Amino acid sequence: MSTLKAVRGTRDLLPPETELWNRVEETARRVFARYNFGEIRTPIFEDTSLFARSVGEETDIVSKEMYTWEDRARAQSEKAQSLTLRPENTAGVVRAYIEHKLGDKGLLQKLFYIGPQFRRERPQKGRYRQFWQIGAEVIGPPSAGSESPLRDAEVLEMLASFLNELGIKDWKLTLNSVGSASDRPRYIAALREALKDKAPKMCVDCQRRAETNPLRVLDCKVPEDQPIIEALPKIAEYLDDDSKTHFAAVCAALDACGVPYEVNPRLVRGLDYYTRTTFEFSHGGLGAQNALLGGGRYDGLSEAIGGPKAPGIGFAIGEDRLILTLQAQAEAAPGGLADAYVAPLGEAMNAPALELARELRRTGLRIELGDGSFRLKKSFEVGNKLASRIVLFGEDEQKSGILTVKDFATGEQVKVARADLIHHLRG
Ligand code: HAM
Repeated sequence: MSTLKAVRGTRDLLPPETELWNRVEETARRVFARYNFGEIRTPIFEDTSLFARSVGEETDIVSKEMYTWEDRARAQSEKAQSLTLRPENTAGVVRAYIEHKLGDKGLLQKLFYIGPQFRRERPQKGRYRQFWQIGAEVIGPPSAGSESPLRDAEVLEMLASFLNELGIKDWKLTLNSVGSASDRPRYIAALREALKDKAPKMCVDCQRRAETNPLRVLDCKVPEDQPIIEALPKIAEYLDDDSKTHFAAVCAALDACGVPYEVNPRLVRGLDYYTRTTFEFSHGGLGAQNALLGGGRYDGLSEAIGGPKAPGIGFAIGEDRLILTLQAQAEAAPGGLADAYVAPLGEAMNAPALELARELRRTGLRIELGDGSFRLKKSFEVGNKLASRIVLFGEDEQKSGILTVKDFATGEQVKVARADLIHHLRG
């Protein structure tokens, strides 16, 4: 019988890596709480039409990447329902906003989520079929100030703080405006027109995109296509005055609080609901899949799925990619060792060593506990792999209250009184 494996594009997350995932999620919860966000948890699957009407029928996500099935009717009177594993979470949050009439309070809703999303993409490093997002949405009636450029700038400033607090180095924020709901169709029409002669000279993907979704042509990475793309009309030329003023205000607020960014007129993003501000944070260490996170404004999304006018802005961080970045940084600067490896010398010392480990762990120290059946050499070998120091704990040490502690990095071996051990290990 062949052995069963995790499905292509899905992964098991194992310790010690899961510890890093938890640290990332704890940092997100802590930072978002400072901005007064609350957590929302929406179902993992939704009615398929939710994604078709929000993300957009013509997008890659909806047209070819969704996991969709017909959910069998339970009674003859019921119709089968088309359901889809969520490929992203913004649509579900906006559906919940409408369903629970969250706008009726007349206040901004600031909601964050952490959870798995599903897209049938070609798996590669940083791109999976089940992946995790940490995202947030700020949404509300216009009277609550949901259209204000200050909201865009605040979200971007929060993301910069989050990445800095997590210790992500060298991130890059790229910003653009894709205009209002009326600017965008005018621009798409201009792009379609310009692509009529040019598309046949471009790559096969661009030839298809020129027909189905001309905005996606701007994402093309094929070197030969770049001069053609650079010469295409730019969205900035199609923005109305309100969109221009909005974008200038977002940039001015970011300048005022010192968040660095670059404007890229080609940043249009792969979801149809965006209006005005769109953004991505990228990281050079990620290779081809370099977008750490993406987001933008979606002023017409609520109405598009049958809700009241409720402009909003949000983002989703690719948690898998954030972890890859942190791991790459950690390789450059090793860490992650326990504070000490407590080595019981002889099996009779197992129980007293457990008690010592308990005492140390209670103070917050990170302790690995060995086993009294190990010979001394083995204890040193294992301890060296797991911890920065080894604490030898035999009957003599128990009686005298003086323990031997060796630092693996310096090779220094010292005698420490049990009463001073905590202080010593903290130093
Ligand atoms: P998105 O750009 O489709 O936006 O995804 C956001 C992030 O999720 C990407 O930048 C990437 O880091 C990560 N991601 C996407 N696909 C994969 C994959 N197959 N494997 C690993 N990571 C992936 C959205 O999903 C929008 N809902 C963001 C948003 C929220 N806009 C407004 N509010």
